[in-house]
Amino acid sequence: MASSEISDNILYQKLQEMIAAKKDLRDPLIEILRDAQEIFGYLPAAVQELIAQELNLPISKVYGVVTFYNYFSQIPLGKYVINVCTGTACFVKGAPKLIQMLEDELGIKAGETSEDGLFTISTVRCVGACSLAPVLLIGEETFGRIDSRAKLVEILDKFRTLA
Ligand code: FES
Repeated sequence: MASSEISDNILYQKLQEMIAAKKDLRDPLIEILRDAQEIFGYLPAAVQELIAQELNLPISKVYGVVTFYNYFSQIPLGKYVINVCTGTACFVKGAPKLIQMLEDELGIKAGETSEDGLFTISTVRCVGACSLAPVLLIGEETFGRIDSRAKLVEILDKFRTLA
């Protein structure tokens, strides 16, 4: 058996145990999806199918929840998720340009993950730091007034060196 198959089996076993522990909670779907995303790093179709089956829910219900919440991802996420704020203040101050610069810099589109697995570009609504617009978040860190490619590259480089 290949080592990736073995690690997949371990992840699925972990998922089954977590579902068994939580399936009798009142309305457990969101919590189980959140845990499943932590286990796999994202929510592939096979995981969604298994959760639907175990909770006795139609797959459409699981899929509906996964696609409704921005938090859930159906693609493997990068080590660092770059959340660009697209709230009104950030939009007016250049969020679309910031997204474009990120896309150019990383060679991917918003919603995608860079080939090296380091970065995923995502968007969020207002994060309450409008005076710093345009803003992006990486993990818990907020970066503001990113109005030039040089500032953006400086931030990306900081995370590249951490990797
Ligand atoms: S609109 Fe971006 S922080 Fe408020």
